[in-house]
Amino acid sequence: MLEGWPPPVLDPAGPYASSVSLLSWVLFAMAFAVLLVVLLALYLALFGRPALQEKFGGERLIWAGGVAFPVVVLTVLLIYGLSLTRHLSQPIQGDALRVRVTGEMWWWRVAYLDRQGREVIQDANELHIPVGKPVVLELQSADVIHSFWVPRLSGKLDMIPGRRNLLRIQADAPGVFGGQCAEYCGGPHALMGFTVVAHEPRKFEQLIEARLNRQQASVVPTATGARLFDTVGCSACHRIAGTGANGLAGPDLTPAGSRRTLGAGILPNNRGTMMGWIGNSQAIKPNNRMPPYKVLTAEQLTQLAIYLEAQK
Ligand code: CUA
Repeated sequence: MLEGWPPPVLDPAGPYASSVSLLSWVLFAMAFAVLLVVLLALYLALFGRPALQEKFGGERLIWAGGVAFPVVVLTVLLIYGLSLTRHLSQPIQGDALRVRVTGEMWWWRVAYLDRQGREVIQDANELHIPVGKPVVLELQSADVIHSFWVPRLSGKLDMIPGRRNLLRIQADAPGVFGGQCAEYCGGPHALMGFTVVAHEPRKFEQLIEARLNRQQASVVPTATGARLFDTVGCSACHRIAGTGANGLAGPDLTPAGSRRTLGAGILPNNRGTMMGWIGNSQAIKPNNRMPPYKVLTAEQLTQLAIYLEAQK
C-alpha cells in the first residue's frame, strides 16, 4: 500500500483544503434542503387535499418558488462561497517557497525556485514542503491539459499549455499526501499520481540544503550500474546531477533513491520494483514513454537498481 494513496477527498489537512471542503459540505447541505422542499411540493401537488392544492397552487407560487427562491438562495451561496475561498488566490505576505510543477505525459516535472525565480533543484513526481507555511506552485504543462490535485492540501487546478497557473497549498502537520492528475490526458492518465511530503521546518531546511549541495557536487560514477546507465542509454533521457547523464526527456534521477514512489506515484520505490520498471515498464504502466529494456539480464537490472538506489 502506498502511503497517502488513494488520497481521501473529504479529509482536509491544511487551510486551503479546509475552506474548499467546508464549501462542499455547505453546498451539499443546501442542495439537500432544496431537494426536500421540492419533494414536499411534489407530494402536495400529487396527493394533497384539494383545499391545500388550491391554497398553494397558482401563479404566485411560480414567482415565489421558481424565481425569487432560487435567486435568493444562489446569490447567498455565491457570496458566501466567494468570501470563504477568497484567500485561495490572494498574494502571500512575506517569503513563500515557490515550486514549478510541469505536467508531462504521464508524470510531473518538479523544480524548486530561488528568490529570483531560477530553477535550483530538480525533482519529479514528489514535492517536499515545510509545515504551517503556504507554498506557491507554478503549474504549467509541456503537452496536453493536466490537472494538479492533492485533495488534502488544496483544490484542483488545471495545467494548461502556454499558461502558468498559481496554486497555493499548505499542510498543518507533517505527513505524506497523495495527489492525482484530475484531467483526462490520454493513455495512462489514471496512473499519473503525485506525492507531497510535509516536514517540520528544520528538517525541511536540512533537506533543501542537502539537495542544493548535491546539485552542485561533481561525481565520478565508478559502479557497474553507473557504466550501464550510460551504455544502455538511460542517460539520454534522464539526468543525474554532477555526472555525465544529462537527458531532459524523462524524470530527473538525481534523488532517485530517496523517492517514495516509482512510475509517478504508482509503485513503492525499492530495488525489486526498480528492476521491474527498467526491465518492462510497459507491463506496469502501458503506453508510458519509457521503452522496455528486455535485453538486460537480471544481473544488469540489479546493478542499475543498486546504482539508482544510491542516488539521494
Ligand atoms: Cu495528466 Cu491526466
